[in-house]
Amino acid sequence: MKFAQFYFGCVTLFLVFEFANEANCQDFKKQVIYQIVTDRFFNGDTTNNNPSQSSGLFDSTKTNWFAYWGGDLAGIQQKMSYLKGMGITTIWISPTVDNENSNMDSGPPISAPYHGYDARDFMRVEEHFDRSTSLWTAFDNLVSAAHANGIKVIVDWANNHSNYNGGGEFGALYNNGVFMASDSNDPNGYFHHNANISDYNDRYQLQYFTLVGLEDLNQENSTIDNYLKTAIHQFQTHGADGFRLDAIKHVTWGWEYSLANSVLSQAPSFLFGEWYNNNPGDALYHDAYKFANKSGISELDFGVNQAARNVFAGNTKFSELDAVISAENSNFTWNTDLVTFFDSHDESRLLTLNKNKDRLHEAMAFLLTCRGIPVILYGDEQYLHNDTNNGNDPYNRVWMSSFSTTTTAYKLINKLATLRQNNDGLAYGGFQPRWINNDVYIYERKFFNDVVLVAINKNDTTGVAISGLLTALPAGTYSDYLGGLLGGSSLTVTAGSGGNNPANNFTLPAHTVAVWQAVGTPAAPEVGSIGPTVGQAGMKVTIAGKGFGSATGSVLFGTTTATISSWSDSSVTFTVPSVSNGVYSVQLKNSSETAANTIQFTVLTAKLIPVTFTVNNATPTNIGEYIFLTGSTVELGNWVTTFDTAVGPMLTPNYPNWFLNTSMPAGTTIQFKFIKIAANGAVTWENGANHSYTVPASGTGFVTVNWQY
Ligand code: NOJ
Ligand code: NOJ
Repeated sequence: MKFAQFYFGCVTLFLVFEFANEANCQDFKKQVIYQIVTDRFFNGDTTNNNPSQSSGLFDSTKTNWFAYWGGDLAGIQQKMSYLKGMGITTIWISPTVDNENSNMDSGPPISAPYHGYDARDFMRVEEHFDRSTSLWTAFDNLVSAAHANGIKVIVDWANNHSNYNGGGEFGALYNNGVFMASDSNDPNGYFHHNANISDYNDRYQLQYFTLVGLEDLNQENSTIDNYLKTAIHQFQTHGADGFRLDAIKHVTWGWEYSLANSVLSQAPSFLFGEWYNNNPGDALYHDAYKFANKSGISELDFGVNQAARNVFAGNTKFSELDAVISAENSNFTWNTDLVTFFDSHDESRLLTLNKNKDRLHEAMAFLLTCRGIPVILYGDEQYLHNDTNNGNDPYNRVWMSSFSTTTTAYKLINKLATLRQNNDGLAYGGFQPRWINNDVYIYERKFFNDVVLVAINKNDTTGVAISGLLTALPAGTYSDYLGGLLGGSSLTVTAGSGGNNPANNFTLPAHTVAVWQAVGTPAAPEVGSIGPTVGQAGMKVTIAGKGFGSATGSVLFGTTTATISSWSDSSVTFTVPSVSNGVYSVQLKNSSETAANTIQFTVLTAKLIPVTFTVNNATPTNIGEYIFLTGSTVELGNWVTTFDTAVGPMLTPNYPNWFLNTSMPAGTTIQFKFIKIAANGAVTWENGANHSYTVPASGTGFVTVNWQY
């Protein structure tokens, strides 16, 4: 196929670049992420302000908030020591791919894709950010500078859509400059061409309809599948350490499993997606955590986001936050991989909602010590906000007008980012509330004998008397790890029993955060992380933790040992062995055979490719009943029959026919059947023999059968 050859040719050119470091990429729990809207950060190269192919979208006066303002990749590179000094270990940059070139609406004022969410060519870098588009110079220089400073780079990746279908370039998509399709010229079915989503609880609309006018890509089309995977591999080849996947609830869910598998088969990476809204109260919460538990893609934590905004800006009770964390921790298998944030480029800044800087500091301290990987939105450390239209998009995307290294927030981030490196309680630990009332939240993060105890009083005026506080900190006196930066003082602990040691009674003054911590010595190896969490034989995987020893030990899948490629006291990288597919409790042992705690890993049957299943005439089904798919391999759940474990629910835009896009093991013959699962969990199997299907070795697959009566 001419098309495929064309871009494989392009990829070969870039293979000289180095992939990101294996071990570092797969354990993001020690990272502190800094989110940058590239256009609004720093102008490092004025020659790309107003490029010829897209001229007129730049506003040098920075008065039109919908125009480009001049920030670019060179600008971020030039601020690397500022970022490093803050303790930031990862930057998440706004989508970097080439975006549409013309005014998106009919304005004036000009409306430009300065934010990057209106792609026209996923194979190229946007010319406003990198003037040497085809050479990738600015992108490569940024990655090198970041890596030289121990900072990883996450690229925002918006592959649900191309660009706005009602103006500008009307969705036009290119492959390295070669036109592919637009809204009105799409002979090969690269786009879905459905109406805008109107029901955000309808699983079919979410995945197949159009998100606010953004031309919806058809990932089941083998050309689009290949194009998007080739394009994301190109960013990996250029050193991207991970990807923030935009709008994952709107991209075909099954296909995304194969996207993750494709990325992770190419090189180590960390993937997290925007599933808005994965709050425990949302109608599709169940789907949200099922996806995070199985796909290999973690998620931004909107539950904590909303509760933290309510608690710290809106002054609601801490119990709101505590309830969300507790619910999520019981549903998300990989809850320490959830990506936590209170501000983002899509929400008004906390300081717009509440001008009290103490509250901002308290929210930051909370975020940096909560379970999950914290994200700081650029400019929060400088207290930037613009309150026009309540600070909503685009007024939250402020210009980074100050780079002071002496603000309290800048120092706070540095201190807690440092603690995350040194006390594994923050990265890997559980989360236990220890003392709570409307204004005070005292919680503990504990990983074996590494303990961090955090106390926050958000009350504006009143100190709160704390008595009866218990902690796993050993008996002793602890000074405030923040050195009194947010008003904390020392804590004395006396010996108790069962990990519950009494603390002295004390008063936590108004607007105080105190952090007390202890680092223990491991008696046996302690495993805190595995990444990725799912993959086939041959994939590189990293287990991280503590006390592995310097001499190489072993990693076991059942009785089969994995081949180790690197071993250190805190990180081991190995290759998934050839064992039968299934969910394993992986066992690490040190060189003297002392076993660590086990950790879960799913061994796939083979590399995943997208397959769309259709079952016709599956009727009758009652309200609340759905058709699911189950079958003979781990990808199909090995004949399981629950909502959480079977593949589905399937979609029925043409009832009583049901279909679902999934990801299945390439080149494998699978046995499967369809089942009905009722709201109460009751299962009805279709009759007859199992269906059988051989998944293609590459491309995308389609299989259609009739429900067997
Ligand atoms: C979510 C992004 O965060 C937002 O900024 C963007 O407009 C939409 N997805 C569409 O890409
Ligand atoms: C404007 C919004 O600011 C942005 O987030 C979104 O991606 C675009 N509209 C879509 O065109």
